[in-house]
Amino acid sequence: MSGEKGQNQRSSESLAQQGPGGGFSQTHAQGKAHAEQPAHFAFDEDSEREVAKFVARYPAGKQASAVIPLLYLVQKQMGRQTGSAWVPKVAMDVIAQRLGMPAIRVYEVATFYLMFNTKPIGRFHLQVCGTTPCMLRGSDDVLRACKDAGGLKGYGDTSADGNFTLTEVECLGACVNAPILQVDDDYYEDLDYDRTVQLIEALKRGERPPHGSAIGRQTSAPAGGPNTLTGVEEG
Ligand code: FES
Repeated sequence: MSGEKGQNQRSSESLAQQGPGGGFSQTHAQGKAHAEQPAHFAFDEDSEREVAKFVARYPAGKQASAVIPLLYLVQKQMGRQTGSAWVPKVAMDVIAQRLGMPAIRVYEVATFYLMFNTKPIGRFHLQVCGTTPCMLRGSDDVLRACKDAGGLKGYGDTSADGNFTLTEVECLGACVNAPILQVDDDYYEDLDYDRTVQLIEALKRGERPPHGSAIGRQTSAPAGGPNTLTGVEEG
């Protein structure tokens, strides 16, 4: 993990310091974190339907197992409602209450997994894979394109227009189509500098280009097309 990414590191301890009831200490109340945190969170109608489905999957007394899906629901709802997909602390408290588990357990999960954003992010979350296969296939160019086209200074930055937040991630499990840029939940594959710039410009125009390979690669087939079982007829 790079030094830049280290700036994004979070801890359940820092969340817990904000107070068991969701209130902040005087120190936090004067800080930036307090200004970003909403006072209330409630699942909306769409989320409530999903909550009921997830919770019903687990036997009585094991509802805490639904913590990860519920954190996802919060993040998606925040994205719908505010344009910034993140998980406020007060929502973690709502989840804890709903699942009958200590709030600290929810904080621990939310801060352990990097896919949960515990502070506001831009409208689009640009996640650059910088692990070895992507690095060897040009992730530095993808990063440079994100900075140039997105108006971003580096990892951890959010653009001045609020459109983009840039994060470095480790292997996304799609190395065969490296380099990969994950935008929110979608993988964009086989990128280079120009293709990444085109993608970001499209996002700025409000378009959402189809995800997957940027060179038309069929799933994970060789870049030049399939070279085995080529004589097999479909059907
Ligand atoms: S190294 Fe980037 S997807 Fe595996």
